[in-house]
Amino acid sequence: VPIASLSRQSIEANHRVFKGYQMEATVVSTQPFAGQKPGTSGLRKKVKTFQQPHYLENFVQAIFDTQATLRGGTLVVGGDGRFHNREAIQTILRLAAANGVARVLVGQGGILSTPAVSCIIRKHATQGGIVLSASHNPGGPDEDFGIKFNVASGGPAPESVTDAIYQRTTEIDRYLTLQADALDLDTIGDSQLGEMRVSVIDSVADYAGLMESLFDFDAIRDLFKSASFRMCFDAMHAVTGPYAKAILEDQLGAPAGTVINGVPLEDFGGGHPDPNLVHAHGIVERTQGAEGLDFAAASDGDGDRNMILGRDFFVTPSDSLALLAANAEVAPGYKAGIAGVARSMPTSQAADRVAEALGIGCFETPTGWKFFGNLLDAGRITLCGEESFGTGSAHVREKDGLWAVLFWLNLLAAKRQSVATLVREHWRRFGRNYYTRHDYEAIDSAAAEGLVHHLRLLLADLPGRLLGDYKVAYADDFSYTDPVDASVSDHQGVRIGFEDGSRVVMRLSGTGTSGATLRVYIERFEPDPERHDQDVQIALQPLILIARELAQIEARTGRVEPDVVT
Ligand code: G6P
Ligand code: ZN
Repeated sequence: VPIASLSRQSIEANHRVFKGYQMEATVVSTQPFAGQKPGTSGLRKKVKTFQQPHYLENFVQAIFDTQATLRGGTLVVGGDGRFHNREAIQTILRLAAANGVARVLVGQGGILSTPAVSCIIRKHATQGGIVLSASHNPGGPDEDFGIKFNVASGGPAPESVTDAIYQRTTEIDRYLTLQADALDLDTIGDSQLGEMRVSVIDSVADYAGLMESLFDFDAIRDLFKSASFRMCFDAMHAVTGPYAKAILEDQLGAPAGTVINGVPLEDFGGGHPDPNLVHAHGIVERTQGAEGLDFAAASDGDGDRNMILGRDFFVTPSDSLALLAANAEVAPGYKAGIAGVARSMPTSQAADRVAEALGIGCFETPTGWKFFGNLLDAGRITLCGEESFGTGSAHVREKDGLWAVLFWLNLLAAKRQSVATLVREHWRRFGRNYYTRHDYEAIDSAAAEGLVHHLRLLLADLPGRLLGDYKVAYADDFSYTDPVDASVSDHQGVRIGFEDGSRVVMRLSGTGTSGATLRVYIERFEPDPERHDQDVQIALQPLILIARELAQIEARTGRVEPDVVT
């Protein structure tokens, strides 16, 4: 929109002229909204909450008010295509222009996966980026929306930044915007919004180029050519559709139709775009029985999660991290070896065993990808992962769903073994960490807080006690001291470790939008290959019961069984 065409009459009486910017920004009075505190991964609320007048504007202005480098800088903006994505982007563009941002790179159609945002921030050396997504939460007018600010490293803002943004939202009394028509987000190319240049860019190109630099695309092409290999990628009607089609089908020659549910929809087709055994059950079935695909994978709403399946075989995210760490050198991007590995605290200790064998560093961080940022920036780790279906590396500063899928394809192409054989051989070498997570969703918040409080009170008495056959070695409320900047994050979840290496971990989810979700993570180490083929829930049953009893789950939440078991 040329500056001259901005209608002066349409500008509110309370406007003011910015010196140095030949445009008029409207100053809109506002009042703080309670609860604009970013959680594990940005600010997530119901769409209806975000649709309230000034709600999104307040939060975005708080970003501009606290992140000085954005004035005169470049910002990346994009989202997972869910309901409200386009409107939110138009709002952000107007605020960005009014706040003196020089240029915005926005994905075509408003589409950018979370790892693609991270990739573009780094490649174009921008001052940051805004991701619009509620990740794996459902989308639609009555569902969830979210906004997250990523810093110049490409990673989610650290707590110091999110705290500053939150603090600002509690005192905000005005925001700056421009009166302007909606911009065309569908045509690649540049336009002006006031003084700000808006560049609509190809959503996939930069990211696809990065993937090609990391993995052996020729070997993967050969794998697809061998008639015996059949796979499926489920984009769950979310953001990875265009990425997966371009890379797997167009670049790597996978047969058309390899990518299913590949068109991003505002409501994800009514589904729950979370790649786990429950919500991506369709591809689980396709790896079983008559069809028996050799490989299947899925990613979530914003493209940062992954689920990996082989024929009749589910690879836990914890095992996936361990396997990639043990075999990293198959991929050209990791040929030189890996510096170290990190996992979130509730993630199984399978990767620790690999790190020990490789003689590399191993770090245990709180839940949340942002905690890997410093370790990656400092070169202390190359790979990292979380039990919550997140795997990634130093190539960007987010977890990366399609990256994990390509890494697995590279591994399968190099080894020419089935997924199940690869994993079983890994267990034979390192031992198996049986692992499960039980989620109790939408429980009463007060009951959940009470349960955690009760657990914390128990902790001091647990070490040395025998629970069933398991002797408690340590029990604590996980506190993390960042080895790079020495910042401390307390109360990151209750850990009960047993003498044989088994663990029970309990914490409340930081990503929910209604009530509380209790997550119970159970792990047992089994060195004996003769005992690697047990049913996971049966192998872990004694520990599951110990957790239920200790936390008084039924008495405190009224729940007898978890809602989701993965
Ligand atoms: C998001 C974050 C992850 C985190 C996951 C689970 O996906 O990016 O880092 O592990 O949420 O968080 P929650 O607090 O719900 O267990
Ligand atoms: Zn996600």
